[in-house]
Amino acid sequence: TRKMILDVDTGVDDAMAITYALADPNVELIGILSSFGNIEADRAAANALKLLQLYQCPQVPVFIGRANPLDHQYQRIAVNAQIHGENGIGDVNLPAATAQIAKQNGVDFLIDTAQKYGEQLCVVTTGPMTNLAAAFAKDPVAIRKIGNITVMGGALTVPGNVTPVAEANVEQDPVAANQLFTSDLKITMVGLDVTLRTLLTKQETSQWRTCNPTAGAKLADIVDFYIDVYDEIYPELGGCSLHDPLAVGVAIDPSFVTTIPLNLLVTTEHDAYYARTIGDKARLNEPTNLNVAVGVDRERYLNVFMKLFLDFLE
Ligand code: BDR
Ligand code: CA
Repeated sequence: TRKMILDVDTGVDDAMAITYALADPNVELIGILSSFGNIEADRAAANALKLLQLYQCPQVPVFIGRANPLDHQYQRIAVNAQIHGENGIGDVNLPAATAQIAKQNGVDFLIDTAQKYGEQLCVVTTGPMTNLAAAFAKDPVAIRKIGNITVMGGALTVPGNVTPVAEANVEQDPVAANQLFTSDLKITMVGLDVTLRTLLTKQETSQWRTCNPTAGAKLADIVDFYIDVYDEIYPELGGCSLHDPLAVGVAIDPSFVTTIPLNLLVTTEHDAYYARTIGDKARLNEPTNLNVAVGVDRERYLNVFMKLFLDFLE
């Protein structure tokens, strides 16, 4: 099994990423920490805690991470209500959690866990990369020990989803993404290139309802909100994107995607090209530890995804 930390801005698809990590018997979820984006960091953590309660997994600790981007001058939005609902989880009410948010701050938890588990640890970010960049700046030796870092973010071969060039998680904190992408850390980037092709429909969510009329139905309510939003914004897709849960899947089974090694940078100038993930001309021929997912076996992934979810909800 892999020890995993999930760094989320819960978020409908973040909720599916959490579910995937709990459902996969190959994952031992060591903790969840929150970032900001779909919703503020404290509410993102609260949403994660409620989901854990819904699934009766209160033993997983939840930490609040950085609440703002490294470049404090700039934050795009505080709540992405249009896409994820006012409360981040499709405006579905989940019962209040009885467990408490952990006291330690998320960045220090990340550093301590990296120290403790080193190579055995895998970190998946499904929100802005602020916590990981802050942890790397504070203790690069510890963060370099992490065995596997997988980030959902960026767009190399397709347009962005916030601007024509920017993907949401990168756009929330391009400075953080740039620091990580231009570092020597081993990172797999799971961006819109593959996530926009990996889709879920109500045909699948309805199976969760049948199999578990309480937790399964709640999750289906949350995700159906997102599917409706996608139907409106991207009618050509015919479903909602599995951005964040795909990153979790890839962290465990890299063969879901094909990757290319590439030195990327992220543009941080406040102009029309803000927050673009683009090949770094100056380093194009240098070795790199960054692998960018450009192809996905969506059918196999969706089969695994559905089997895990149904077994978990049963
Ligand atoms: C990413 O942005 C967020 O809105 C989603 O949760 C996902 O992490 C997709 O661009
Ligand atoms: Ca997210």
